Amino acid sequence: MPSYVVAGASRGIGLEFVSQLSSKSDNVVFALARNPYGAKDLLALGSRANVHVLKADITDPAALKAAADTVAKVTGGALDVLINNGAIMGELKWAALDDFPSEDALVAEFRTVFDTNVLGAILPTNAFLPLLKKGAVKKVLTLSTGLADPATVLHLGHKYATAYSITKVGVEMANIKYAVKYKDAGFTFLTISPGLVKTDMNSLPEKPEDLAKVQEVFGQFATVAPPNFTGPISPEESVSAMLAVLEKVTPEDSGKFLSHHGDRNWL
Ligand SMILES: NC(=O)c1ccc[n+]([C@@H]2O[C@H](COP(=O)([O-])OP(=O)(O)OC[C@H]3O[C@@H](n4cnc5c(N)ncnc54)[C@H](OP(=O)(O)O)[C@@H]3O)[C@@H](O)[C@H]2O)c1
Repeated sequence: MPSYVVAGASRGIGLEFVSQLSSKSDNVVFALARNPYGAKDLLALGSRANVHVLKADITDPAALKAAADTVAKVTGGALDVLINNGAIMGELKWAALDDFPSEDALVAEFRTVFDTNVLGAILPTNAFLPLLKKGAVKKVLTLSTGLADPATVLHLGHKYATAYSITKVGVEMANIKYAVKYKDAGFTFLTISPGLVKTDMNSLPEKPEDLAKVQEVFGQFATVAPPNFTGPISPEESVSAMLAVLEKVTPEDSGKFLSHHGDRNWL
């Protein structure tokens, strides 16, 4: 019975991972959310016999350890795949680095986003590594973004989402550090971008001046989009593509950062 943990599963792409993985009755899926009682779609999936909804904030080591203990009890001590999905964009995502309302606001934004996006991938990985070592599959999938690819950001001229882009570069490096440490141990640590996906993360801003920046960014995306690109894709399409990549990768791919297409085309 292949076992999966999805960390940050209350909505959006994480919720869709839980939905697709648990649609195979052979799989057992553990969905971690910091506030499961506020996540009604996740609670609905929790009625499936092979879904276990657990309360854990991805920045809280004690909660993650408790979740790992629960998973171990159900599976007999092993885990096959960990998906580090949870992240935040930041409240001030439309500020360029020197346009924050104040340096205090910049510091607060970067600390919060770093905690969630970088520690929020490292802490779940550390909590579940003892179980993954006993699993048959040994795969860790961590969500990043094409906005963490320096060459793409330079090409696009994308100056926003600063804390987000910078911390997601950190996530890629954390993935590489794990890949190096566990080289030859049968592990595959993969960082993946889900594409541009219709979720809360891409909801339109309220301020009119920020709406103009959305248009600016979409204009930039058009310069790298493939000819068949029609805009943000659904969580269903993104997750199904990422699961196909996850299935294909082997320890030879450990440490790579790929798109949902399995290459470096981010849209
Ligand atoms: N959507 C896109 O176009 C896009 C593009 C590139 C990369 N990504 C990446 O894809 C992943 C999923 O994004 P999404 O679009 O589904 O975003 P989303 O709709 O905003 O969902 C974010 C998820 O992360 C969870 N989360 C945040 N902080 C957490 C914490 N401290 N503890 C536990 N859970 C936490 C949220 O839980 P709560 O409900 O409790 O807030 C929610 O379930 C992220 O890593 C994101 O960076 C998305």
